[in-house]
Amino acid sequence: MPRFTQEQVDQINSKLKTPEDALKWAYDTFGEKIAKASSFGAEDSVVTDMIIKINPKARFFTLDTGRLNQETYDVMDSLSKRYGIKFEVMFPNTQQVEQMVRTKGINLFYESVENRKLCCEIRKVHPLNKILGTLDAWITGLRRDQNENRSKASMVEIDRMHGGIIKVNPIIEWTWEQVLDYIKSKNIPYNKLLDKGYTSIGCEPCTRPIKPGEDLRAGRWWWESDQHKECGLHMDHTAR
Ligand code: ADX
Ligand code: SF4
Repeated sequence: MPRFTQEQVDQINSKLKTPEDALKWAYDTFGEKIAKASSFGAEDSVVTDMIIKINPKARFFTLDTGRLNQETYDVMDSLSKRYGIKFEVMFPNTQQVEQMVRTKGINLFYESVENRKLCCEIRKVHPLNKILGTLDAWITGLRRDQNENRSKASMVEIDRMHGGIIKVNPIIEWTWEQVLDYIKSKNIPYNKLLDKGYTSIGCEPCTRPIKPGEDLRAGRWWWESDQHKECGLHMDHTAR
């Protein structure tokens, strides 16, 4: 697999001006060993549309936690039909889920941060590690203004949490308004939860719509006070 030093990554980033530049570089460099991770939020619709125009045969995967909203499955279906995508759906390990639910309860995540992180670990982090173990690089819909941690992320980065593979965040610099404008102007399929006030989309029991004036990620794990609100898929940039 191609390995990069931080210096090389900095050089690559300095040459990439647009999301399309980043995607073209990514597919030229990694071919079939790169895939787009999709949680079917608004950002994922945008990046999916960009990818298909550059590489109609691109690979896409999603982590189905078993606790997603129907609207999320609906947009997965719409995107599949519109672009001919066959999503690689990753499920959690059955025995781990059974064991967790038997010992901690079906709604364990509301009881403590520790329980919530355990559920995210089993339902999301392990399946992500499994697929990333087969790839040289992955693509996300991350944006810098989503939270303080992400404000330090770059378009191309070394993912030290996943064995040093490359992580490509093509719309890292985009604002929420740019995301909405792209969806509207190109009339692309999007998650209908957006129309119900969901500005960040995760699992059904752990996500709610935001109220006017609230932060775009305020609806995620809303009962927790931790400002980072990460579930373990993405690097902790504040620790570097
Ligand atoms: S999370 O870590 O808080 O859940 P968020 O919902 O903001 O992440 O999504 C940011 C990016 O992480 C998405 O654009 C997508 O690339 C990836 N991602 C998050 N959740 C999933 C998922 N369930 N399946 C695949 N990719 C995901
Ligand atoms: Fe479990 Fe909630 Fe994390 Fe989904 S977001 S994996 S339901 S704790």
